[in-house]
Amino acid sequence: MTPNSPDITYNVVPILVPAADNHIWNYKELRLTSLKLDLAAFSSSYEREVQFTDDTWRERVNNTQKVTVVAEITMTGPSHFGECPNAYEKPWVGMATTISHQMLLDFKLPFPKSLDGLLVYALNGLWVHPGHRGKGLAKRLHQSTIDWVKAHHDVEGNQKKVLLALVKADNVAAISLYRTLGYKVIEEEIHPGSLSLTLPVIE
Ligand SMILES: CC(C)(COP(=O)(O)OP(=O)(O)OC[C@H]1O[C@@H](n2cnc3c(N)ncnc32)[C@H](O)[C@@H]1OP(=O)(O)O)[C@@H](O)C(=O)NCCC(=O)NCCS
Repeated sequence: MTPNSPDITYNVVPILVPAADNHIWNYKELRLTSLKLDLAAFSSSYEREVQFTDDTWRERVNNTQKVTVVAEITMTGPSHFGECPNAYEKPWVGMATTISHQMLLDFKLPFPKSLDGLLVYALNGLWVHPGHRGKGLAKRLHQSTIDWVKAHHDVEGNQKKVLLALVKADNVAAISLYRTLGYKVIEEEIHPGSLSLTLPVIE
């Protein structure tokens, strides 16, 4: 069965916290694969993250102030995963991590001044394995992220929530994706060479 086989279907689900060990190692493998294959899309690097300890990977996943949504293959055909990036029973082929407003504040991560007064959630690490692109997985990962953001109780209560995505200015596919999803570019530059895009999350 190849990635384009009609009998491949996908589940898109958040990693539940506290995460099972195999979910943590799946996450590590998927994240490192994304950095290896699409270095230019991200602000981190494979060389940096491959040195993380097991505890760092655990802490990355086991944090209620963030969510990682993953796309896993569900099988309807024979058990052969073709080019999938890992060997677990339900291989993971896409992911998106989102950080809460509280976490942005705790880690003093920058966000646009024009969003002051709003609960800003930052979407990053969105990635779909090249063999599984163009099938709507990024849209599904995004929808699952929105569901988490809507349900998440940030310490500041009921203020209006927005999602913020920072995208390298030359990343045509990602910019097109965010525009399709309704994001608008804002003028403030947070990282040189990246666009800041935001989407209101309706409560
Ligand atoms: C960007 C990325 C996540 C899209 O994943 P995907 O699962 O193929 O996207 P989808 O199939 O859900 O496509 C949704 C929309 O994205 C846009 N899009 C996706 N790939 C595109 C491409 N290669 N060129 C132009 N637009 C594209 C389209 O608007 C598409 O909507 P449509 O199908 O109605 O035309 C994927 O290409 C990827 O992982 N790229 C490398 C990592 C990356 O750039 N991450 C974003 C960091 S900010």
